[in-house]
Amino acid sequence: MNTADSSAFPPELLRDVARRRTFAIISHPDAGKTTLTEKLLLFGGAIQLAGTVKARKSSRHATSDWMEVEKERGISVTSSVMQFEYGGHTINLLDTPGHQDFSEDTYRVLTAVDAAVMVIDAAKGVEAQTIKLLEVCRLRNTPIITFINKLDREVKNPFDLLAEIEDVLKIECAPITWPLGSGKAFHGVWHLLHQHLLRFAAGEETRSQAEIIAGLDNAQLDALFPLEIGQLRDDVELLSGAANPFSLDDFLAGRQTPVFFGSGINNFGVQEILQALIDWAPPPQPRDAGARFVAPAEAPFTGFVFKIQANMDPRHRDRIAFFRICSGRYSSGMKVKHVRANREIKLANALTFMANERVHKEDGVAGDIIGIHNHGQFQIGDTLSEGEALGFRGIPYFSPELFRAARLRDPLKAKQLQKGLQELGEEGAIQVFTLDDGSFLLGAVGQLQFEVVAQRLKDEYKVDAIFENADIHTARWLTFPDEGSRKNFEREQFSRFARDVDGNPVYLASSRYNLDVTMEKWPQVQFHATREHGEKLA
Ligand code: G4P
Repeated sequence: MNTADSSAFPPELLRDVARRRTFAIISHPDAGKTTLTEKLLLFGGAIQLAGTVKARKSSRHATSDWMEVEKERGISVTSSVMQFEYGGHTINLLDTPGHQDFSEDTYRVLTAVDAAVMVIDAAKGVEAQTIKLLEVCRLRNTPIITFINKLDREVKNPFDLLAEIEDVLKIECAPITWPLGSGKAFHGVWHLLHQHLLRFAAGEETRSQAEIIAGLDNAQLDALFPLEIGQLRDDVELLSGAANPFSLDDFLAGRQTPVFFGSGINNFGVQEILQALIDWAPPPQPRDAGARFVAPAEAPFTGFVFKIQANMDPRHRDRIAFFRICSGRYSSGMKVKHVRANREIKLANALTFMANERVHKEDGVAGDIIGIHNHGQFQIGDTLSEGEALGFRGIPYFSPELFRAARLRDPLKAKQLQKGLQELGEEGAIQVFTLDDGSFLLGAVGQLQFEVVAQRLKDEYKVDAIFENADIHTARWLTFPDEGSRKNFEREQFSRFARDVDGNPVYLASSRYNLDVTMEKWPQVQFHATREHGEKLA
């Protein structure tokens, strides 16, 4: 597959695309994602006062228009987009839901970024949700920058933390900074590339730049940190022989992660993360659009929908399709082609995102996100172009981990239930499977998705549905060598056979063992744990 000839790219677009950095923060709840987001925005000048994001996090349910489920639980199901300027670059930070009950949205946001910052709590090490999120990043070899947070607390040994990341997450670590002490005796980090100490002083979190002390043999270090400096010198010597040197190529290929230590709440080590994003994280890259790869500085506008947010504004009961620009330039009022629907639409009042609300933005280039009002015309994975028949790939459905059977309180509402589930399934709020007997099975990766769907069925479709536990362990999409084998399989496995919202065949396994046995019995049938949005399976 070819990309367009780069000499033909408009120079201004090339320049603007090269300045873009689009990333997400991945972490287990409580590792410090919100705190880090806030400090990044502070550096970007996008917010003036620390506490803004945090305040928003806790007051969201009171001030915003989120759904009842969110209000009750005081959490946000949504992810938003924050854009800010730093060091001559335009940075897009895509927020992911912060609650343990994360959903498919979290996964999908990761399909729209070019890099991720992984936050790890230094006292806890690698936690469950980080493992899941990293697996998703790995599908696209997304480059990862690691921030080991909370060094101001009693923490695990830094060598053990690196070993844990390498063992559990199977990604090579290249330490860039290294802690001098920890907990009450945390004094800063040694920058292994710059060969200087960035000094930490508690209570100085408003300083934009830490004090720098150069040279590991500097007598000032002995005078200031007599108890800890010996350990740092030993560590640095050990690292010079044993640690992986940073390799930009390995980082960009997703094989190696540069590791930084710090304390988000103290605004310490955060600037180094921003610098790494600018210096090392990639600008928007060419993307697979089915027929060909699309380069970000090509003049024609293209992009895809990676997330649909319902009820951003309950007064209008609208939905917003979040759209990642993959090439060209967005301008308000432009006409584009909705490739799947095969029709032209006008992008009249798309939303652009700035963390600093005082700035209104009317344009965007590859890497930026725009929000388009959606009245049901968009599905996850939909492509927009200026006429070319493209279909961006790499936006997968994941096999759900939780299943519920949907049942009606009022059997007369069967039509509404079907319509509601079909639309919510197409929108990507939940995965909907129809069984041979016409009953519905819902699949999700987070429990909250069920609650949101129950609420939306009630509000938007006037259907009171009950979701009951289903004896399903996992689902696999199926492809068959021919029509005959599909029919055989469907006949013999009818009780475990279903169709997804796009009519694709699916096997519903009651256990891992059941799946293994079935796969063994049907070697000619392929069982897939993911499928592409919009993909039609045989
Ligand atoms: P999350 O978005 O990943 O869920 O994490 P969040 O930033 O909300 O941080 C979780 C808790 O960890 C918060 O404490 C926060 O203040 C704390 N924290 C974040 N970074 C650091 C750090 O560098 N050092 C220390 N010691 N703590 C840190 P909380 O008690 O839950 O909230 P709050 O009362 O402080 O607001």
